[in-house]
Amino acid sequence: MRQNPFNAKVSLMKYEIREIVDFVEKLQKLDPSLEIEFENIGDPIAKGWPVPKFLKSLINEETDREGDAVFGYTHSRGNPATRKWIVDYSKRFSPSSQLDFDNILITSGLGAGISAAYHMLAKGLRIIQPSPSYPTHASMESFAAEKESISYILKPENDWQPDLEDLENKLQENPDIVGILIINPNNPTGAVYSRETLEAMVDLAEKYDCMLISDEIYFRMIYGETEFAQITEIAHNRVPIIVMRGLSKDVPWPGARCGWLEFHNTHLDEDFKKYAESVKKRVLMEVCSVSLPQAILPKIYEHPEFEAWIEEYLEGLSYNINEITRILSENPYLTVNPAKGAFYMMPIFKDGVLTNNQSLEIENEKVREFVESKISEPGISADKRFVYYLLATTGICIVPASSFFSPYLGFRVTTLTRSKEQLANIYETLSKAVTNYVESDKNLAHESLQGRQGLALKELEHGTTASRDVSESI
Ligand SMILES: Cc1ncc(COP(=O)(O)O)c(C=O)c1O
Repeated sequence: MRQNPFNAKVSLMKYEIREIVDFVEKLQKLDPSLEIEFENIGDPIAKGWPVPKFLKSLINEETDREGDAVFGYTHSRGNPATRKWIVDYSKRFSPSSQLDFDNILITSGLGAGISAAYHMLAKGLRIIQPSPSYPTHASMESFAAEKESISYILKPENDWQPDLEDLENKLQENPDIVGILIINPNNPTGAVYSRETLEAMVDLAEKYDCMLISDEIYFRMIYGETEFAQITEIAHNRVPIIVMRGLSKDVPWPGARCGWLEFHNTHLDEDFKKYAESVKKRVLMEVCSVSLPQAILPKIYEHPEFEAWIEEYLEGLSYNINEITRILSENPYLTVNPAKGAFYMMPIFKDGVLTNNQSLEIENEKVREFVESKISEPGISADKRFVYYLLATTGICIVPASSFFSPYLGFRVTTLTRSKEQLANIYETLSKAVTNYVESDKNLAHESLQGRQGLALKELEHGTTASRDVSESI
């Protein structure tokens, strides 16, 4: 070609949740008998959840409707009636909101909305990311900025709440940061931020004159007594904020591709208003987002069977979280925080238990050679190494914690498996594999290992495990 069209900045994009599937496909070619348990992707359909009848009926009614309007384009910013409904829906949870329907933007899945928001930032300006982060956010932000992401630490020893001191330091050090991303409830950790945490984050946004971006795609998925505090109420009339929500997680229809952005408090800042308009323009370029889910979105949420569906779903997921927590907490090498929201958990390896000499026994010679060649590639993190061995020996597919733009070594699991028996099997097998893998390093003297675990436990008890310690263990 007369010039190379390849953009080397693609290396800033990481999406191991899907990239690991390429590894799986290669393994299966070498060993067709290997059965895979996909615990990597947050898709309830793939994990056996049936589509509720009321949802299928709504879809059928809409496609059978006379006039066939749903087969055409919608308004570029989204079906106006649906945007008006979104405003009412938002105000049910945040009564002080002054949102109007002109400030709603419906996109083909929230993923598309996230990409548009980062794409339209002025050159060089940054949105600080949580670490760990959902990779679409961190990837699209850093790709737009053409630089590695800037992040604030989430602390596993404090139930994955953000390290506010770290956040403030970063805001002070980096005048290019114009916004703070909050993912709440959180993917990948399953954390839900406390009201105090959110109040402190709004205070920081106000102090440093930044906007907030609050990805709340899991906001209906809260377990037990946990409170989901409405950040729009806390930020009311104080800080510009983009709330990101979507359909994908509330009903088992992620293939609908329907998400939306809400631009709150645009009256507070002319620059924020202009930026919001530019994101709307960017979305215009895509003509419109998928028409069918937009047409029935209000009917889904207003359906008399919707609340019962959500309740049944949360009950099933809550059982899974308790089971996974029970099984993995018994493992001496892991630290496990049960999910308070969303459908993910991120157990982490205790400090110092991973080395580069550990392995699991792979019987199939070709598979063994393949895994050994993959783990000897440069830059393979210690937790990815474990994940590869786990896949090759058990077929369990999880995602390394280090692939979520994080300093922690561990893995993210989904809590979606429908069958209780299958769930118990997967997590008992996973726990055994962790033990066998860690203990396969005969050089890791048992006593010294126990010493390190004791230290890690003490630090966790006293809440002193600094991010420095964790990153040193990579
Ligand atoms: C935190 C978060 N935001 C956004 C998305 C994207 O959702 P959608 O299916 O609407 O593109 C996901 C999907 O897993 C997610 O976990």
